[in-house]
Amino acid sequence: MALPKFSLLPVLLLFCILLMSEPVKCDNDEEDNLYQGINNYRASLNLTALTKNKNAECFADEIADQFKNQPCTNTTGANTVPGTEPSFSNYPDLLTKCHLNVSNTRDGAVMPACVPGLDPRLVLTNFTQSLYSGNLNDTKYTGIGIGSEGNWIVATVTTNTPGGSFVPYNCANLISKIGLVYCLMLLLVGNLFLL
Ligand SMILES: *[C@@H]1O[C@H](CO)[C@@H](O)[C@H](O)[C@H]1NC(C)=O
Ligand SMILES: *[C@@H]1O[C@H](CO)[C@@H](O)[C@H](O)[C@H]1NC(C)=O
Ligand SMILES: *[C@@H]1O[C@H](CO)[C@@H](O)[C@H](O)[C@H]1NC(C)=O
Ligand SMILES: *[C@@H]1O[C@H](CO)[C@@H](O)[C@H](O)[C@H]1NC(C)=O
Ligand SMILES: *[C@@H]1O[C@H](CO)[C@@H](O)[C@H](O)[C@H]1NC(C)=O
Repeated sequence: MALPKFSLLPVLLLFCILLMSEPVKCDNDEEDNLYQGINNYRASLNLTALTKNKNAECFADEIADQFKNQPCTNTTGANTVPGTEPSFSNYPDLLTKCHLNVSNTRDGAVMPACVPGLDPRLVLTNFTQSLYSGNLNDTKYTGIGIGSEGNWIVATVTTNTPGGSFVPYNCANLISKIGLVYCLMLLLVGNLFLL
C-alpha cells in the first residue's frame, strides 16, 4: 500500500514546529516556590515582579553544582559574611557554559543559600530576611534565574542594562537557527524520499 505522496509533509512540519519551540524545562518545586515567594515579597514592597531569565538560570544551576558537595554551616550561603564567599577559579568557564561573560553579568548578583532539604519556608526567609533582601528590594534588578542542587539553591538577579542583562551577544538565537537549518534539511530530504 503506497502512502499518499505528501502525507509526511504535515508530520515533518509539525516536528519542526515542536523542535523550534522553546524547550520545556520544568522547574522543580523548590525553585518555583522561591520565584513566587520573591515576587510576592517584591509585590509587598510595590516593586515589579522579576521575570525569568534562562541564562541566569543556567548560571545559577552551574553555581549550585559547584556548591552541592559543601555542607551547610553558619558560614555558608545566606549566612556568609560578605566578601568571604568561596570564589571559584573556574568562574569564567561556568559563564562560558551559559554563553555568558563578565561584560554582560557584572551588574548582576549571585546569591547562594544552603538549607537542608530545601525547606521552602527557610529557603524564602534565607533570601528575604538576610542581606540578600537588599538585592531583592532593589529596583535595578529586573530578571532572575534560580537553580538548585542538593541542599543548595542559588538565585541570580539580572538588570536591564547591558552590563547585567545576561543576554549573550552572539548566541542569542543560535539554538533556533540550528533548529531552522535542521528542519529545512529534513524537509528537503523528506521530499527527496517522497518524490
Ligand atoms: C504600596 O502601594 C499602596 C497603594 O499605592 C500603598 O498603600 C502602600 O503603602 C505601598 N506599600 C509600600 C511598602 O510602599
Ligand atoms: C558558627 O557556629 C558555631 C557553633 O554553633 C559557633 O561556635 C561559631 O561562632 C559560629 N560562627 C559564626 C560566624 O556565627
Ligand atoms: C564578552 O563577549 C563579547 C561578545 O561576545 C565580547 O565583545 C567581549 O569582549 C567579551 N568580554 C569579555 C570580558 O570577555
Ligand atoms: C537559613 O537557612 C538556615 C538553614 O540552613 C537556617 O538555619 C536559618 O535560620 C535560615 N536563615 C534565615 C534568615 O531564614
Ligand atoms: C531593602 O533592604 C535593605 C536590607 O534589608 C534595607 O536596609 C532597605 O531599607 C530596604 N529598602 C527598601 C526600599 O525596602
